[in-house]
Amino acid sequence: MTETTGAPMTLGNHYPSQAEVLFKGSEIHARVGEMAADIRDVYGDEEITIVAVLHGALIFVADLMRALPMPMHLTAVVASSYRGAATSPGELEISLNSELDIADRHVLLVDDILDTGRTLFRLKQIVAAHHPRSVRVAALVDKPSRRVAELKADFVGFEIPDLFIVGYGLDFNGHYRNLPDIVALPAGT
Ligand code: IMP
Ligand code: MG
Repeated sequence: MTETTGAPMTLGNHYPSQAEVLFKGSEIHARVGEMAADIRDVYGDEEITIVAVLHGALIFVADLMRALPMPMHLTAVVASSYRGAATSPGELEISLNSELDIADRHVLLVDDILDTGRTLFRLKQIVAAHHPRSVRVAALVDKPSRRVAELKADFVGFEIPDLFIVGYGLDFNGHYRNLPDIVALPAGT
């Protein structure tokens, strides 16, 4: 069942109008726990280095890492694709805000959403140049129908059709990252 923002008493006025709740916060938390269990099955007690793709992955990585028991390091990169309209990809830029210390380490790239796959494809190339022991990808949401680059995530929370979503870290022009739920903007936004 879905809700719309017609009822500000339940959703709050900061929700975009006509938005449809796709995943409630409680559902996201449950799924993140399942993803953590899958990740644990792969790495066991081995130490990993999480590379979070900011800013979108901020909330997801904070929840995911607290659900993981193995020793870990955390680092981050900032990726921006200068989207004006919600659906146009724009130029991709990835900046490393510190030296990536990942040689011989198990690297887990954590991003909010896999769309065309260009960001993570490029990031995987950058990471590979630092000679890690392994590289895997965890994405909370996957939109496989939008894929352009050859990129498959190792851990995926939710698969969705070609919708533009916000909340739980995901933004539209910088807005809505703080929504606890993930909501879809109406087509044509
Ligand atoms: P990709 O390089 O096309 O896979 O784009 C990935 C980035 O685009 C994501 O990390 C998001 O920052 C952004 N993005 C793609 N789809 C959405 C969406 O539906 N909502 C919000 N941001 C999105
Ligand atoms: Mg992103």
